[in-house]
Amino acid sequence: MCGIIGYIGSENAVPIILDGLKKLEYRGYDSSGIAVMDNKGFSVVKQKGRLSELETAVNARPISGFLGIGHTRWATHGEPSDINSHPHLGSQNKIAIVHNGIIENYKQLKERLEQKGIQFVSQTDSEVIAQLAEYYHTGDIMDTVIKVANALEGSYALGIMCLDDPDKLIAIKKDNPLIIGVSDSGNFIASDVPAVLSHTNKVYYLNDKEIAVLTREGVKFYNTDKEPLEKHLETITWSIDSAEKGGYEHFMLKEIMEQPKVLHDTIQSVLGDGDNRRIIDSLDITNFNKIVITACGSAYNAGMVAKYVMERLCRLPVEVDLASEFRYKDAIVDQNTLVILVSQSGETADTIAAMREAKRKGAVTLSIVNVIGSTIAKETDYTLYTLAGPEIAVATTKAFSAQLLMLYFLAVKFAAKLGRINSEQAEEYFKEIASLPDKAAKLLEQIDFIQMYASTCVGYKSIFFIGRNIDYAIAMEGSLKLKEISYIHSEAYAGGELKHGTISLIEEDTLVVAISTNESLYGKIYSNVEQVISRGAKVLFIGNCIKAVPDEKLSIVELPKINDLFSPSLSVIVLQLFSYYVAANKGLDIDKPRNLAKSVTVE
Ligand code: F6R
Repeated sequence: MCGIIGYIGSENAVPIILDGLKKLEYRGYDSSGIAVMDNKGFSVVKQKGRLSELETAVNARPISGFLGIGHTRWATHGEPSDINSHPHLGSQNKIAIVHNGIIENYKQLKERLEQKGIQFVSQTDSEVIAQLAEYYHTGDIMDTVIKVANALEGSYALGIMCLDDPDKLIAIKKDNPLIIGVSDSGNFIASDVPAVLSHTNKVYYLNDKEIAVLTREGVKFYNTDKEPLEKHLETITWSIDSAEKGGYEHFMLKEIMEQPKVLHDTIQSVLGDGDNRRIIDSLDITNFNKIVITACGSAYNAGMVAKYVMERLCRLPVEVDLASEFRYKDAIVDQNTLVILVSQSGETADTIAAMREAKRKGAVTLSIVNVIGSTIAKETDYTLYTLAGPEIAVATTKAFSAQLLMLYFLAVKFAAKLGRINSEQAEEYFKEIASLPDKAAKLLEQIDFIQMYASTCVGYKSIFFIGRNIDYAIAMEGSLKLKEISYIHSEAYAGGELKHGTISLIEEDTLVVAISTNESLYGKIYSNVEQVISRGAKVLFIGNCIKAVPDEKLSIVELPKINDLFSPSLSVIVLQLFSYYVAANKGLDIDKPRNLAKSVTVE
């Protein structure tokens, strides 16, 4: 949901900002812009469309400066257009800002400013920040920023430049992420680490209402009472390669292929001696009479898988709620409920709201998060980090797989603590989980078949996914993946539900993807397969207990053997590859599907 970057230093800010925006494009890509300051004032270029359009515009009208800010947008207020793109300037062209977030009281503020004769040029909520800043500004930019922050309701991460302070870049945030990178050749603000990683791996994570004042020489932090703050400088350990495509056509394919390593690293973080192990061991599940998992999108689907695993192993009720529903439903949670928040970004607005609601009601909160230092990671009582590294493709793959693993571990550890399984059984389960990286690597060897099969599926208008129990939960993820990147309508059904309505949609040459990893349910799902084939459907059957033989209506992808509890980690890889190659064969923009953005920081 919008990416911002800023730079002040000894080099020309323009290529640095354009390069940073490329790394942030996953956060929004309907328009972009850049502003740099020199001794004559601001030079601004803003462009509707992809970042490449901005680059072309900058090449046609070169600008330069040692201080600058840039923005890549996912429109919320006002259509994507040149004028609505950021940076926004006040009407006296004295202050320029980039904003990620939503200003909830912008209408009131705008009306007030308009009554004072200030003319707005865009339809955005963000312009009000620039106009308000100029209105308040009496000479001290810190005072101005503090006044603006006090007047704003909503969420913001801001980069601010002011002509009166040509040697400063100011940043402040509330409920949206912002990092500060420092290097010998200059200092940076950015929505996410990859934007600065080719310049520095030393970053500060800004907390809400902290102000960063960047100069060429360094950075200082203050609270909104202008008192100096001491902050901890973090060293990022992942390399720049993890945020590059590394020879793959799309980030999504690269991230799918990285999964054996991600599984391995995440397993080590629990079975080895890391923080994740310590945190899981410190959590006493016997204090709780119920678990609630709440999340959005794919992270919610990970929760659906976990419900089956946890209930089967722990015999404890597990509810799974969409975070957007949980936050408004007056959920029945209290101090005896463990609420698990699952989020790759740790910044999803609905999940943040669900977390705060759960805490307000006294529940204990545990998060499974990929992005270090994110809001959810910071605010929950317990935080487990997945070790997926930066995930750039909008459609999640490797982070989802790491979430699943963490949830399996919780299930086994909780079951052991509750005395539902003994230590030998727990060890057996850990061994099964530890076998996943090798099995995932083996499965990826079937990529050619999946690619070939997917190439025959581009013409479908609708594709159904079916499974039972855990296979149904992972079918939901397969369906979401397909629709978000291939734009083919799809739905996931519990196999047993087909006959209660959906089977009427099955006709000649409908495609049904069926999943079967639980031997005891094989007969049931196979009879669903037969029912749809006899009504003309074609079936892609994915599983590790399939006894049927392939024919012109039935194609099979054989999964490595694994306890069915952990099989989603394998079946999902086939589903991801299938979606990827369908979309690739349609020639779509896979890493940046239309209308989507990676981190949904608005409601
Ligand atoms: C789908 C996808 C989204 C996210 C959802 C939650 O491929 O990526 O459905 O899973 O927006 O995002 P996080 O995990 O960042 O809270």
